[in-house]
Amino acid sequence: MTKSIYEVGEIPPMGSVPEQMYASVIRPERYGPPSGAFEIERVPVPELGRGQVLVLVMAAGINYNNVWAALGYPFDVIAARTKAGDETGFHIGGSEGAGVVWAVGEGVRDVQVGSEVCLSGLQWDELANDIRLGADPILSTTQAVWGYENNFGSFAQFTVVDEYQCHPKPANLTWEEAACFMLTGVTAYRQLRGWDPHVVRPGDPVLIWGGAGGLGSMAIQIVRLFGGVPIAVVSDDARAEYCLRLGAEGVINRKEFDHWGRLPDVTDDEAMARWTHGARNFGRRIWDILGERRSPRIVLEHVGQDSIPTSLYVADAGGMVVICGGTSGYNADTDLRHFWMRQKRLQGSHYANTRECREVTLLVGAGKLDPCLSWCGDLSEVGKAHQLMRDNAHPPGNMAVLVNAPRPGLRDLASTRDALATV
Ligand SMILES: NC(=O)c1ccc[n+]([C@@H]2O[C@H](COP(=O)([O-])OP(=O)(O)OC[C@H]3O[C@@H](n4cnc5c(N)ncnc54)[C@H](OP(=O)(O)O)[C@@H]3O)[C@@H](O)[C@H]2O)c1
Repeated sequence: MTKSIYEVGEIPPMGSVPEQMYASVIRPERYGPPSGAFEIERVPVPELGRGQVLVLVMAAGINYNNVWAALGYPFDVIAARTKAGDETGFHIGGSEGAGVVWAVGEGVRDVQVGSEVCLSGLQWDELANDIRLGADPILSTTQAVWGYENNFGSFAQFTVVDEYQCHPKPANLTWEEAACFMLTGVTAYRQLRGWDPHVVRPGDPVLIWGGAGGLGSMAIQIVRLFGGVPIAVVSDDARAEYCLRLGAEGVINRKEFDHWGRLPDVTDDEAMARWTHGARNFGRRIWDILGERRSPRIVLEHVGQDSIPTSLYVADAGGMVVICGGTSGYNADTDLRHFWMRQKRLQGSHYANTRECREVTLLVGAGKLDPCLSWCGDLSEVGKAHQLMRDNAHPPGNMAVLVNAPRPGLRDLASTRDALATV
């Protein structure tokens, strides 16, 4: 008989779905520093719609988007959903995860109850007019990030996803490894492989901000895999060492420079001269690493306001700065004279499409990309992990929390059941 709720780590009979579940929940009254924003609560198990899949979550990945969700800034996810008619009043974050398909909705064809899956993080309406007319779903007006803009993410015993979000879990990965790469890895992959003709080619220098971060650690490997030359920016020696071990050709410690932030007014000659001196010295460090006067053909950006004037300055003539975030702020300054004369490209990039998600999963499964799991906590530590991230005090690479998996190191449902039997 199905119970109305199971303890975390207690596996229900295959396919039976309780009414309630435990989840790490954000509510508007707790908006603020992540350490205080998440609390474990009992909530209803979400309902399954057509084309959807209910997944028993074994592990969930930690990402920066739920730092923003916890803060309620720059986008109040709960208010936005309430305005659209949603009456839930709370947010369950988590935009990647790994687990077991527990129930399937009408029309689901490619996964079955019992399938072990990794979950990708973007949702869209497959029947949307723009998709029917041929748009890449990632560009659809209906796209939204699961576990951020949309509710019922992976920080819970169960989650509901669309079928196309399910990718076969590589058997060689533990649950926590399988849960931690699908957001940063695929975003970096699209940044580096999705914007023709600026895809990484053999020999291309690529500058990577936050080389030891989630995006950066995956980006260093992807650049190497496709023959490029990754140069990482970091803020301390331990992170520099980490990037070199992952394959960076060289590293630059950003603390050795002080020209960060918004560009001075271009008519302020003195301030512009100071800024240009800093940016030029930064560019020279790239030449030193490469051993020749070559500039990055691609700059992988996510820092935004603090670094983008430098990114646009050091990118090669005809090169591209590709940006997916703005951790330090949203104003992007550049001296347009350099921009047009040297014919550069500033490209926005957001997450990845289903094909790109599948390609990254295959590369991780084949051992060509390391998921870079550096820390694994449990469901009660979701707030702590996001706080570490907010404070830029997290370990290099990607982080995950165990949800129903009782301990790290388990790779499938059978071994998870065995481990639970001995707890
Ligand atoms: N649009 C998308 O699809 C998408 C997907 C993933 C992530 N993102 C966004 O991308 C950003 C990074 O995500 P992540 O997972 O890589 O985070 P992360 O693991 O925290 O790594 C970011 C790294 O950026 C560096 N950094 C932080 N502040 C900086 C500053 N002011 N100047 C220069 N470097 C700075 C830090 O490295 P050092 O201190 O060592 O330099 C940090 O480790 C977040 O804003 C996130 O929301 C967007």
